[in-house]
Order: sequence, then C-alpha cells, then structure tokens
Amino acid sequence: MTTKRNFIKQFFKDKKMVGAVAPSSKFLGQRMLENVDFSSDKIIVELGPGTGVFTDLIIARMAEDAQLFVFELNDNFYNSLNDRINDPRVKIIHDSAEHIMEYLNKDTRADVVISSLPLMIFSEELRNSVVQESFDCLKEEGKYIQFQYSKQSKKLLQSKYADVSIKFTVKNFPPAFVYTCLKA
Ligand SMILES: C[S@@+](CC[C@H](N)C(=O)[O-])C[C@H]1O[C@@H](n2cnc3c(N)ncnc32)[C@H](O)[C@@H]1O
Repeated sequence: MTTKRNFIKQFFKDKKMVGAVAPSSKFLGQRMLENVDFSSDKIIVELGPGTGVFTDLIIARMAEDAQLFVFELNDNFYNSLNDRINDPRVKIIHDSAEHIMEYLNKDTRADVVISSLPLMIFSEELRNSVVQESFDCLKEEGKYIQFQYSKQSKKLLQSKYADVSIKFTVKNFPPAFVYTCLKA
C-alpha cells in the first residue's frame, strides 16, 4: 500500500488521533524546520510523525552527535517507522506526547520540539497536557514548532511562551499555519 493510501486508512480508523487526511508536503516540512539551528539544536523531539515526512527531513539535517526522540501513538505508523528507520541517533517511541520527559535522560532538556499533533481536535485535557509537557521538557531558550490548520492554538501557546510567531503556507493540503514559539 502506498504511504498516502495508508495515511487515509489510518485517518478513517481514528480521525481524532490522526487529524489529517493526507501526509504533509515536504514544503511544509521545510517551513517547520527553517528556524531550527541544526548546528546547535542537538536534542530534538518530534511529536506525531505519521508516515515520517518531517522525520526524514530532520534526519537528513541533524548533526552526527544529535539525538532525535520521536513519539507516535498510532500502532501502524509506529511499526512502519520503527521498521524503516535504523539510525543510532533516532529513538522511535510508541507512547503519547504527554510522556516526553520519561524518555529523556535525567537532567536533559530538549533544544526543540517539532509537533504535528492535531491539538484542536484533542480533548481540552489532552491538549493542555501535551502543551504543558512540551513546555516543561524544553530548556530555557528552547523552541516549540507546531503546525495547525487554523490560528485557534494561538492563545494557548501565547499563554505559555514568551514569543509566538505564525507563518501561513498554501503549499500544503490543507494550507497550514506554522507556529514558532520561543520559551524565553
Ligand atoms: C496530523 S498527523 C501528522 C502526521 C505527519 N507529521 C505529517 O505531517 O504528515 C498527526 C499525527 O499525530 C499522531 N498522534 C496523535 N495523538 C498523539 C499523541 N498523543 N502522541 C503521539 N502522537 C500522536 C497521529 O497518530 C498522527 O500520526
């Protein structure tokens, strides 16, 4: 089965978890990563990789001594990423984004969190929990980068982060907003 067909299948199995009918475009991936400094951002967390469009772009850019922690809850996406990606710098984790810190080494904080989670279709409790966990796992100058199909997440992210900037791109289906949030 092609990646796109599998993505649609997973969407119809669990719309609230997958939250999109198609994988994101590489262009959106490039937009998501344009504010990541891969020479200094070495502890990287990715939330909700799906078929791994952004994961592949991150792996191609990350430093030799960087580490990538990838959280995917969907069984099918997790299994195919785990089978496909064999890189000692990358840890694919079959768990919810609410539990990031359980997987980072003690006293380690992330430089950047890159999230594709469909925040606005989550329950309020889950949304608050993953946004808080992401904030807590970041170091003081860390960045949280999130794409969404609306600006509805703006208030929530502004309530946590010192600075939130939003860029819009039509080069994705559906068009998307990329939020870049600075912790301090
Ligand atoms: C909108 S899709 C994005 C997929 C991919 N990053 C892309 O842009 O094409 C959201 C992804 O988040 C995953 N997901 C949903 N809830 C999650 C959770 N609590 N923890 C980790 N991943 C989750 C879904 O299984 C799905 O792969």
